[in-house]
Amino acid sequence: MNNKLIYIKSYGCQMNVYDSNRIKDLFLDKGYKITENVADADLTVLNTCHIREKAVEKVYSDIGRIKKIKNNKKDMKLVVAGCVAQAEGIEIKKRSPTVDFVVGPQSYHKLTEMIEKKKDVINSEFLQNEKFKNLIFNSSKISSEFISIQEGCDKFCSFCVVPYTRGPEFSRPLEDILSEAKKYTSNGVKEIILLGQNVNAYHGISADGKTRDLAYLMNKLSEIDAIKRIRYMTSHPIDMNDSLIKVHGNNSKVMPFLHLPIQSGSDDILKKMNRKHKVEDYLKIVDKIRSVRSDIALSSDFIVGFPGETDQDFENTMKFINDVKFVIAYSFTYSPRPGTPAQYKDNVENKVKKARLSALQSLLTEQQIKYNKSFINKKINVLYEKKGRYKDQFIGRTIYNQSAFTTSKEDLINKILDVKVTNSTNFALECEL
Ligand code: SAH
Ligand code: SF4
Ligand code: F3S
Repeated sequence: MNNKLIYIKSYGCQMNVYDSNRIKDLFLDKGYKITENVADADLTVLNTCHIREKAVEKVYSDIGRIKKIKNNKKDMKLVVAGCVAQAEGIEIKKRSPTVDFVVGPQSYHKLTEMIEKKKDVINSEFLQNEKFKNLIFNSSKISSEFISIQEGCDKFCSFCVVPYTRGPEFSRPLEDILSEAKKYTSNGVKEIILLGQNVNAYHGISADGKTRDLAYLMNKLSEIDAIKRIRYMTSHPIDMNDSLIKVHGNNSKVMPFLHLPIQSGSDDILKKMNRKHKVEDYLKIVDKIRSVRSDIALSSDFIVGFPGETDQDFENTMKFINDVKFVIAYSFTYSPRPGTPAQYKDNVENKVKKARLSALQSLLTEQQIKYNKSFINKKINVLYEKKGRYKDQFIGRTIYNQSAFTTSKEDLINKILDVKVTNSTNFALECEL
C-alpha cells in the first residue's frame, strides 16, 4: 500500500475517457488514491487528444502550469498519455523536459511498470490485444458505462489523425465484452455505451470461433437482464450493414439514436476527404433506418472549410442538413494535422471558415430547438444519472439521448422512469414525475 495521490485529466473523445478510467483502475489497484486537485498529486496523467490543433494547444498550456507546481513539488511525476503521446512521442520531452513519461493509447497498460522501473517512454507499437488482457475494469459510474469494443481505423480520411494515433482496426473478442458488461451490471449499471472509432466495423470473434458483427453483439448483450439500454458510437456510413439497421427495428433495448458522421454534404468534398461514400449513400441509410424505426434520432459530425470547399459545396452541406434534420450534431472548422495528406492544402480563409461554421451551427441549433419543443406535454422515458446543480434536481438522458432534468424529493439516480415533458431549453428537456 502507498499513500500516493493520482490526478488524471481527459482531453478527448469518449474512448479517451474510457482509457482514463482504466488508467485510474490500474493505479487504484496499486494503492493510489484519486485527487481532483493537481497541486496535491504525486502523479499527474494528462490523457491527451490530437484531433484538432486546439486540443493539442490546451495540453501544452496545461503542461506549462504543471511545470510551476512541479518546481515546488520536485517528486511529482508527470505523464503525457493518449493520442498526442502517440503522435509526438519523445518529441514531447524535448519540447517540455518537465514531462517524465510518455505513453500511447495502446500501451498504457504498462504505465504502472514504467513508473516503478523509471522507464520513460513506451509508445512505439500498437498492442491492442495485449493491452485489453492486462486492464482492470471497475465501474466508475452508477447507471451508465462505456465499453470500448473496437479501436483504431483503416479508413484514412485525408484530414484525420486517428489511424496514426490509434493504429489499425481491432475488435475485442465477444465474450470479453460480455464479461466486462456483467461486471458493470453487478454494480447496478443499466446502460452500456459501446465505443469504437468505427464501432460498426466491429468484427469480433465469439467462443465458437465465428466472426460476429455489432448487431449480433448487441443482441447478445440484450440477453443480459440487467442491461436495459444499449447505445453505440461512432459509426461510419460504409459499415452501416442491414443487420445493424434491422436491430433498430426489433431490439427495444437498442436506443433509437444514431450518431453517423458525414463531414460534408458535397460529393466533391467527400471525395477529397477520402470518405469512400457519397451523399446519396448516406440518404439511403437514413431512409432504411427510418423505415424500421421512424422515430430514430439522428446525429452527425461536420467539418467546414475543408481544403477546396467552395460556397456551392457549403450550400450543399446546408441543404443536406435541411433535408435530413438532425437532433444534434457536432461541427468544427478544418484544422490541418501533421502527418495527414490534406494538411498542405488548407486554403479556405479563416474568416470564411468561421462564417460558415456559424451559419451551420445556427441551422443545427434551430433544428435541435424545434425537435426538443416537439416533446412538450408528451411522455418520455428517462434514465437518471446524476444530481443537478440545483437542490433536488436530477439529470438524465431520454431514449433519444437528450439531456433531461427533473426536480424531485425522492432520489431518482439510476431509475428509469416515464416522465412528462413540461418545457424545453435549447439543449435539454424539463420533465416532471
Ligand atoms: N471515427 C469517427 C470520428 C473521428 S474524430 C468518424 O469516422 O467520423 C471526431 C470528429 O472530429 C470527426 O467526425 C470530424 O468531424 C472531426 N475531425 C477530425 N479531424 C479533424 C480535423 N483535422 N479538423 C477538424 N475536425 C476534425
Ligand atoms: Fe478518422 Fe475517418 Fe477513421 Fe473516422 S473514419 S477515425 S474520421 S480516418
Ligand atoms: Fe482525440 Fe484520440 Fe479520441 S485524437 S478524438 S482522443 S481517438
